[in-house]
Amino acid sequence: MTRILILQGPNLNRLGTREPDQYGRKTLEEIHGEIERMGERDGFSPVFFQSNHEGDLVDRIHLTSQDGTAGIVANLGAYTHTSVAIRDAFLSVGLPLVEVHLSNVYRRESFRHKSLISDIAVGVIGGLGPAVYRLGILGLLDWLENRTPKSPPP
Ligand code: DQA
Repeated sequence: MTRILILQGPNLNRLGTREPDQYGRKTLEEIHGEIERMGERDGFSPVFFQSNHEGDLVDRIHLTSQDGTAGIVANLGAYTHTSVAIRDAFLSVGLPLVEVHLSNVYRRESFRHKSLISDIAVGVIGGLGPAVYRLGILGLLDWLENRTPKSPPP
C-alpha cells in the first residue's frame, strides 16, 4: 500500500487551542484521525510525525529513504520560512513533496511569504484549514499515479 509521511512541524501539536481564528479548532489528533479514515477508504497508508525540533524533522526525513515512503505531505510551520537544513534533507531523499499550510500565508505577515521548500515541492496548498492535508494527499497520490515512471513490462 502506498505509504505517505505526514510531517508536522513546530507548534502544530497545539492545534485546537492555538490561535483558533487562524488555524481553527480541530486538534492534530482529530486531523490525523480523518486522514487515517481517508487512508482506509482510498487505500493508502499514512504515517504521522510531529516535532518541534528541526534536527528531529531532518532525521525523520532521512528515514524515508529506507522505510518505503512513496511521498511526503509536510506542514513545516515556521521552519518553512527559515530552515535550509530541512530543505537539504528533502533534497537528499528526493521524494515527491507537497507543502501545505492551514492558513493562507499570503494574507499574513510578509516574513511568511517566503518558503524555502516551495520550489522543490511538486505542489503547494494553503489557506483552507485542515482540508489542505486531504487535498495535499489526493494531489500527491495523483502525482504518484501519473508521474512515477512505470517499469517496462517484463
Ligand atoms: C503554518 C503557517 C506558518 O507561517 C506558521 O509558522 C505555522 C503554521 C500554517 O499551517 O498555516 O506554524 O504553516
